[in-house]
Amino acid sequence: MKGEINFSKFTNFETIKIGIIGCGTMGSAILEQILKERVFSKNQILINDKDKKKEREISQKYKVKASEINEVLKQSDFIILAIKPQDFLSFGKEVSFPKNKIVISIMAGVEASSIKKILGVKKIVRAMPNLMVKIGKGVIVWKEQGLSSNETRNVKKIFKALGEEIRVKDENLISQATLISGCGPGYLYFFEDLLLKSFERLGFSEKFISKLLAGTFFGAILYQRKEKKNPKDLIKMVASKGGVTEKFLETLKEKKIYEIFEQAAQSANNHNIKRKI
Ligand SMILES: NC(=O)c1ccc[n+]([C@@H]2O[C@H](COP(=O)([O-])OP(=O)(O)OC[C@H]3O[C@@H](n4cnc5c(N)ncnc54)[C@H](OP(=O)(O)O)[C@@H]3O)[C@@H](O)[C@H]2O)c1
Repeated sequence: MKGEINFSKFTNFETIKIGIIGCGTMGSAILEQILKERVFSKNQILINDKDKKKEREISQKYKVKASEINEVLKQSDFIILAIKPQDFLSFGKEVSFPKNKIVISIMAGVEASSIKKILGVKKIVRAMPNLMVKIGKGVIVWKEQGLSSNETRNVKKIFKALGEEIRVKDENLISQATLISGCGPGYLYFFEDLLLKSFERLGFSEKFISKLLAGTFFGAILYQRKEKKNPKDLIKMVASKGGVTEKFLETLKEKKIYEIFEQAAQSANNHNIKRKI
C-alpha cells in the first residue's frame, strides 16, 4: 500500500526509527520498557525534550540519541508524543510535522480529530497508558485511525511490551480510561498514604505499616485476578461479622465515604471533559 511503512521486511523492526517527544515521567517510562523488552535497540530511538538538562540526562542514562526536534520528526517512523496536553497547541505551532508519520499520542484529553487538525497527520494512535508501563505492567487502552492492518499489528506489539493492551473502537473509552487506569495508580497511592497516616497517628511505625501495606495490596490483587471475584464478595471474605475490618468499613460509610467518592469522580470527570482539546 502506498505510503505505508513496510514492517514485513523487518520482523523485529530492525530498521524502524522511533522518536519520543517529551521525556518526562511517561516518555522515559516507555523508553525504559521498550529497551528492556528489546522491541527497539538503542540506535533506533531518538528523543527530544524541551528541558535540555532532562534530555541530556535521559540520553546518557539510556544511551539513546537526543536530537533537535525537526531531526527527530524527519528521521522517525513512529513518533510518540508524551508532552503535556497544555503544551500541545504551542508544539503544533512550533513544528512542521511530516504528514506520513505514525503519531502515537498518550496525551490525556487530546482527541484524534485535534491531532489530525493541528499536525495534519492521518495515521494516529491515541493511547492511554499508565505509569506501570515502566515495569511492563501497565494498562494501555488505545485506538488507531488511518493505519493499515500491518501497521496496527506492529503498534500492538509495542504496547504488548508495556503491559496489558486493550484496543477499543470507541474513542470515548479512551477518555474513560484516563479516569480509571490513567489516574488509578494515583488513587491507590493516595489510599495507601491515608492508611499510613491514620495508623501512624495511633503510634504504629511507618516502616512497618509500609511494608505490610505493599505486600497486602500486591497479594490482594493477585488473589482477585486468580479467583475472578468482584470486590463485594472479597470484602465479605475479610470483613467477618463483628470483626475489626467491618468496624473500619462501617465507620467510613457512616462518614459518607460513598458521597465523597461520588463527588471526586464527578469533579474529575467534569475536568476531563472540560479540558478536551
Ligand atoms: N503521568 C502519568 O501517570 C500519565 C498517565 C497517562 C498519560 N499521561 C500523559 O502523558 C503525557 C506526559 O505526562 P508526564 O507525566 O510524563 O509529563 P512530564 O513529566 O511533565 O513530561 C513532559 C515532558 O515534555 C516536555 N515538553 C513540553 N513541551 C515540549 C515540546 N514542545 N517539545 C519537547 N518536549 C516538551 C516537558 O518539558 P518541561 O517540563 O520543560 O515543560 C517535560 O519534560 C501527558 O500528556 C499526560 O496526559 C500521563
